[in-house]
Amino acid sequence: MAMPPSPGDRQSSATPKRVPASETSRWLDLYEFYTDFSQAIFKRYQAQGRVFRMAPFRDIVLMLGAEANQFLLVTHSKMFSAELAWKENIGVLFKGGLLNHDGHDHRQLRRLLMPAFRQEALAAYLVQAEPLIDQHLRRWTPQCPDIYSHLKELTLQIAIKVFFGIELEAELAIYNRHITAMVAGSISFVKAPIIGRTYRQALKSRQALVRMLLPLVGERRRRPTADMMGQLCQSTGEDGQMLSDDDIIDQILFIMMAAHDTTASTLSSLVYELSKNPDWQTKLRQEAAEIDAGHLALPDLPDQLILHQYVIKETLRLNTPLKVIPRVSLEDFIFDDFSIPAGQLISICPAFCHYMSEYWTEPERFDPLRFSPERAEHKVHPYAYTPFGGGIHMCLGQFFAEKFVTVILYKMLARFSWQLPPGQDIRFQQVPIQRPKGKMPLHLSLRP
Ligand code: HEM
Repeated sequence: MAMPPSPGDRQSSATPKRVPASETSRWLDLYEFYTDFSQAIFKRYQAQGRVFRMAPFRDIVLMLGAEANQFLLVTHSKMFSAELAWKENIGVLFKGGLLNHDGHDHRQLRRLLMPAFRQEALAAYLVQAEPLIDQHLRRWTPQCPDIYSHLKELTLQIAIKVFFGIELEAELAIYNRHITAMVAGSISFVKAPIIGRTYRQALKSRQALVRMLLPLVGERRRRPTADMMGQLCQSTGEDGQMLSDDDIIDQILFIMMAAHDTTASTLSSLVYELSKNPDWQTKLRQEAAEIDAGHLALPDLPDQLILHQYVIKETLRLNTPLKVIPRVSLEDFIFDDFSIPAGQLISICPAFCHYMSEYWTEPERFDPLRFSPERAEHKVHPYAYTPFGGGIHMCLGQFFAEKFVTVILYKMLARFSWQLPPGQDIRFQQVPIQRPKGKMPLHLSLRP
């Protein structure tokens, strides 16, 4: 059967043209990119169409729409480098991480990490994390001045326990400090240790973490454990090859970074959307009651909570944590009648695609049932919905994130109902990762 031509291969009579320079100044691009990302992209899309240039920090060509997503992530992925695109942001602090690899090296490394993300491993992580989740929720008080900081603390502690197997309160605090510093460094604007205090601290914290983690790797090689580091210590490739001690530390630190802010972002967006749509809090509680969720083994729970999953999907559509996915072109190519040279920084923008009316009915509306089998709007185009990316670099932690977020949501709904303080709305910072601008106060009511 003949395959339909992929969008980038479409024959066109037009001679390919260069993508024109940004129509606005570098300073305006930078300002708009960071202060109102969605509006900045929408304005340029209306004026210039699906392919245009911006120069917020470096010159980027933006390619919008599901076809662009498919072209860059899947059908023509070999023509693009993730490593060259990500290395400026995470190359030093999170060196060796999966997104800093392309081609054969990436495939081999990803295969070695897979066992730590299998169903049985995820089930064991959930069981390890449950007491921590319950403990945290018990500490939350009704007038919460900033739910986002609570969610960040919760997700960080889960990660430290589940990834490293650290239990002791005193140690947790030290890990907490160093990891927070590293993540802050990775998203800091200045990445030069001489002038950037945040970045300098992040580098120091990386050294401290490596010193603390090396002996743990040794212990886990001798005595296997169910935490993620334990899994990585045992993982063996087809040729019997194993990850070195340094590789294990590089990978676990990278995974920590990839997991932490994205999951806290998702949870804070969920809390927000459900405070705006309290009828959905009720529907989710009803769903949990109908399946008698309290009697299921925790690892089996997420798969049974179907409405919870639609709500999470819809939240990720409206509030995609990672707005853009960058690559650098390795060769000249043509997309949508534009000729783009090798060495160009390109970005697709899943967050924009999630609001395009050609894929979604009333895209601005919170409407979880659009993901139900009857409506299945996310299937209108296979790459219209990509909060976890796609293709060879597709998020390795997708199921991890979905399971943990479902369980935390289920437990929050069982213990509390919530609303924003009267007259208050929350504004969100959108890049580099979506999060509330400033504090996110919340009124929590304990349920009987
Ligand atoms: C809702 C939460 C999350 C979102 C929205 C998210 C999103 C993404 C996206 C868009 C990518 C692809 C980046 C690219 O192609 O350039 C990615 C990659 C990755 N994510 Fe996630 N992520 C989430 C949670 C997690 C968690 C919890 C983990 C680990 C436990 C994780 C581990 C990874 C890893 C290892 C990669 C690199 C995969 C590769 O290069 O092969 N992520 N994530």
